[in-house]
Amino acid sequence: MDLLRQLFGLDGRIAVVTGGASGLGASFSKGLAGAGATVVIADINEELAGGVVGEIEDAGGKAEFRPVDVTNVPAVNAFADALVEAHGRVDVLVNSAGAAHRSPIEDFTEEAYDRILALNLKGTYFMSQAIGRKMITQGKGSIVNIASIGGFIAYPHSSAYLASKGGVVQTTRSFALEWIGHGVRVNAIAPGLCETPLLKKALAESGSSSTTDFIQHRMLRDQLIQPDELIGAVIFLASDGAAKVTGHTLAVDDGYLTQ
Ligand SMILES: NC(=O)c1ccc[n+]([C@@H]2O[C@H](COP(=O)([O-])OP(=O)(O)OC[C@H]3O[C@@H](n4cnc5c(N)ncnc54)[C@H](O)[C@@H]3O)[C@@H](O)[C@H]2O)c1
Repeated sequence: MDLLRQLFGLDGRIAVVTGGASGLGASFSKGLAGAGATVVIADINEELAGGVVGEIEDAGGKAEFRPVDVTNVPAVNAFADALVEAHGRVDVLVNSAGAAHRSPIEDFTEEAYDRILALNLKGTYFMSQAIGRKMITQGKGSIVNIASIGGFIAYPHSSAYLASKGGVVQTTRSFALEWIGHGVRVNAIAPGLCETPLLKKALAESGSSSTTDFIQHRMLRDQLIQPDELIGAVIFLASDGAAKVTGHTLAVDDGYLTQ
């Protein structure tokens, strides 16, 4: 086997991608499948997920869709059981399901706060717990969380999102520390502003570009990150090439956090 494949190849691995139907998750799904993994898209959007599965299969890869709402803990546990029943194991989990809500703090509603925290933070925690239990039994596994530059710095009208992503960074560290003895690595990436449906949705719902303008004004280069530009970092963290990397959040932000 050549060195690159030995280090970064995912042949025969089972990789779950939450939020894999859209945006960054769709890119991660295609990237992991391209590296050899069988990809399981864990999402609530059957139509979009079907499109991604089709694209992966057309390119000669292996993928399937398994519906699950990551905010529903019993459903998440049932998903993990059914997955291992079907495939015998699970090697990689990428937690990409997430959403943003933009509002000044004075007007932030309890409903929006609960929805963002439940999806971005609680969803990441309990899907990692459910899949991690299976990985502990195997003695090996890699979890990659999707944090954000917003896990480290602030920008306006995103208070619940920033809290959730700071929480993802610390969740990553705590899981990594507790599970290192079980052979389960837990890392995250912190992307800068990416061109995805999430960005368009957040702009449309808030009717204001103040958050995006604030971030874009401070970008070192006036270029939004394209979803495919994050794939290399996710494959690296998922792969044996990162065997000694755990608890780390890797900024993939075109240098944004250097400031
Ligand atoms: N777009 C950016 O600029 C950016 C930057 C940094 C981090 N991120 C993070 O990347 C992740 C993906 O964002 P995106 O831009 O690809 O968003 P997106 O809206 O394109 O995709 C989100 C996906 O999550 C799925 N989803 C929503 N609720 C779900 C639930 N309850 N259970 C299962 N799946 C659910 C959606 O169906 C969708 O497929 C998020 O965690 C986001 O915070 C995005």
